[in-house]
Amino acid sequence: MSVELLLAQDAAEVAEIAAAALAEVVQAKPDAVVGFATGGTPLATYRRLTELSMAGELDASNVRPTALDEYLGVPGDDPRSFRAYLRRHVLDPLRVHEDRGVLLDGAAADPIAECERFERGLTALGGVDVQLVGIGRNGHLAFNEPWAAAAGRTHVRALAKTTRDDNAGDFPGDPVPALALTQGLGTILEARTILLVATGDGKAGAVAAALDGPIDLACPASQLQRHPRVRVVLDPEAASGLSRRGRGAGIPSAW
Ligand code: PGA
Repeated sequence: MSVELLLAQDAAEVAEIAAAALAEVVQAKPDAVVGFATGGTPLATYRRLTELSMAGELDASNVRPTALDEYLGVPGDDPRSFRAYLRRHVLDPLRVHEDRGVLLDGAAADPIAECERFERGLTALGGVDVQLVGIGRNGHLAFNEPWAAAAGRTHVRALAKTTRDDNAGDFPGDPVPALALTQGLGTILEARTILLVATGDGKAGAVAAALDGPIDLACPASQLQRHPRVRVVLDPEAASGLSRRGRGAGIPSAW
């Protein structure tokens, strides 16, 4: 297993560790290609990165940003889009120029062509240096729901009911879109480093299946076990389902 696991004391420490890991990449390579996740979990990490930036300890202005996924049919200027989330929580606070990287356009007239354009964009950037990811309750990675192809590229995907339920808060009064554009598992696994963050006991089962279980399409995140450099940061609740094997022998105390 090629997963490096760090057990934080609490969710705040998860954010601190994840932000430090991302900052380290950017300090070593100011124009790093950084894949930013959306969702609730990374918000504290982004707040910490913003603090580092405001304190003059991090200059992310040359970062080339990319994203994991986007709702189909939701344009980037819609506040519910992932592009708008990234502008709000990452790009604007960290003064990252989105045109330097490549994001997905949920309102593209031809979604399949948009997925292909995105893949070409990632290739032109030279691949992703570090990809931050969360994990769904059902083990999804980006919008790769259970049974997604292990080698899949960026594609249009139907969202699982658990995912639509979990994201309902983003669409008050409206149904959550049924379809999304998402990096495939094959695309995600090409990132040179993957940084997975998870907090809360709602994620304990998915984390245990991803790190302890077999590599199995029923848990898309278990594909991470095939990657040579995955760092996982968990709070005690998210780690609570892990066995000794899942916790690993040599947990580093710091990175
Ligand atoms: P969350 O989403 O951070 O909002 O829990 C994670 C995910 O679905 O990947």
